[in-house]
Amino acid sequence: MSTKNIDWSSLGFGYIKTDKRFSAVYRDGAWSEGGLVDDATMHISESAGVLQYAQTCFEGLKAYRTKDGKIVVFRPELNSQRLDDSCERLRIPKLPEGMFLKAVDMLVKANEDWVPPYGSGATLYIRPFIAGTGPVIGVAPAPEYEFRMFCTPVGPYFKGGAKPIKLMVSDFDRAAPNGTGHIKAGLNYAMSLHASYTAKHAGYAENMYLDAATRTNVEETGGANFLFVTKDGKIVTPKSSSILPSITRRSLMIVAKEYLGMETEERVVPFAEVPEFAECGLCGTAAVISPVGQIDDHGKEIKFPSGMDNMGPVLTKLYDTLTGIQMGRIEDKFGWIHEVK
Ligand SMILES: Cc1ncc(COP(=O)(O)O)c(C=O)c1O
Repeated sequence: MSTKNIDWSSLGFGYIKTDKRFSAVYRDGAWSEGGLVDDATMHISESAGVLQYAQTCFEGLKAYRTKDGKIVVFRPELNSQRLDDSCERLRIPKLPEGMFLKAVDMLVKANEDWVPPYGSGATLYIRPFIAGTGPVIGVAPAPEYEFRMFCTPVGPYFKGGAKPIKLMVSDFDRAAPNGTGHIKAGLNYAMSLHASYTAKHAGYAENMYLDAATRTNVEETGGANFLFVTKDGKIVTPKSSSILPSITRRSLMIVAKEYLGMETEERVVPFAEVPEFAECGLCGTAAVISPVGQIDDHGKEIKFPSGMDNMGPVLTKLYDTLTGIQMGRIEDKFGWIHEVK
């Protein structure tokens, strides 16, 4: 049982300091063994690579309690792999084999009391990251790095039901064709702040980004991939080398095909095709699926038949199945659930 005296249902998505965090350092060409530490503050050079040239990448995953009281994490090996991919693109030394998963286990176990109870909708959000901590002045990879993994309890994503959101087509680009859109680099999120401010200021929940080269194809939002449902019930998701390969999206595509027997397509999605779809949703770790009711493109409104009141029926089925697998209510056919013991 969770022993922290917290009103889980009223928690938002913010940082709350928990008891322990995992830390390992890269120095003289090798990673230290790493372990749990108490200090939630990092002490780094004013000339650290992360501060001067944003040499940092991160991940995001959740631990939660299942129906039968286990504490579990969903497909953490994919976060580990994606962190490796981010490291490679940013010239950050990769973690030794197994360190990421060991850190997840140690961190969650040590902060067990912070894992919200089953049914509360709240979860323990895990934030792993690696930052260049050694000093640089010329543009170059930092000589030293720190890998940290901390966790913080976060509230239910949907309070009072999953209400469809409105998006706007952004005039900003998220990622260049051969840039860094496919990795989880901090720099992708720094440059999204102004675009996201602009969307929110105009009354939208998020931006829809189009491909930077032609501005004709759908990419993703600042923090989630798209799923569309065709009028004949097919699941379609954009294929692009400049979007982040969402673990939730990849899992939902498998759920659609293997659990629900639906047809799925990962392909280029022209923006011109969007008004033809019956349902639209955003997928990511935080919400699993957020329904999209409307997308505005410079005064032109695209309204999905699923409307602005509820998630559409096909996305609801996908959502219920994946969250059912995650929470232990539906059989985990593919070994996606990692138990923290
Ligand atoms: C840009 C972007 N796209 C998609 C996602 C969703 O990915 P995942 O399902 O792995 O959380 C995220 C969140 O991590 C993101 O930041």
